[in-house]
Amino acid sequence: MKIYRSEDEREMGMIAADLVAAQLRVKPNSLLGLATGSTPVGMYEALAELCQAGKTDFSAAKTVNLDEYVSLSPENEQSYRYFMQKHLFERVNILPRNTFVPDGTADPAVACKRYDELLDSLGRIDLQVLGIGRNGHIGFNEPSDDFPCDTHVVELSESTIEANARFFASKAEVPRRAVTMGIRPILYARTVMLLVCGEEKAEIVKRAFTGPVTPRVPASILQLHPNFLLVGDRAALSLLDGSMVC
Ligand code: F6R
Repeated sequence: MKIYRSEDEREMGMIAADLVAAQLRVKPNSLLGLATGSTPVGMYEALAELCQAGKTDFSAAKTVNLDEYVSLSPENEQSYRYFMQKHLFERVNILPRNTFVPDGTADPAVACKRYDELLDSLGRIDLQVLGIGRNGHIGFNEPSDDFPCDTHVVELSESTIEANARFFASKAEVPRRAVTMGIRPILYARTVMLLVCGEEKAEIVKRAFTGPVTPRVPASILQLHPNFLLVGDRAALSLLDGSMVC
């Protein structure tokens, strides 16, 4: 595990964007695994700026997103497809046909099967970007008794519903289910980069990356990844031993 510490959220976004841009320079046709949520917004903003300045190029890249709410269509402003269009895809030179997000409107079991077939056809993810939930979830792989390998339907935990209610008019509007990529393609990615910011994530960062590897804290499995980058701000990394940070 390699840890990059930024002073604040803004700098975290810029460090992460530079790492994605470096990946695209080394391999322009990279397959990028992408996340939604508040944490990567600054990274997407910085990537859009780099692309508009001609300093990075998405024209040969492909992307696969981690997850989507069951029942939300791409036109729904709370859907993850909508989020990606707004924060990244419409602002960089990626080809729309090269961007993939699970289908929230299909029968969930069918959407999962199709997404796994798609992932198989695309091959290994070059760089997987992740956030982390306050309960340690990655994608929507919630704490459970095992690490689910494949794309699956999840019942969102109460803490995730509460955390995500801020994006909806009310908590009642948050969909209770989501389709999420499983752990296998995440762990199989050549590089995994997890972004985290804010004091409220400090405790889970400590548990996930210095505690035991357990499906009760899904992100803890990243301790087993040979090329895992943790990019966090000072507050989120505050409970880690200083010697771990480079
Ligand atoms: C969303 C996703 C989630 C989020 C996590 C943190 O695609 O994968 O695991 O990364 O819920 O969300 P924020 O960044 O909003 O705290």
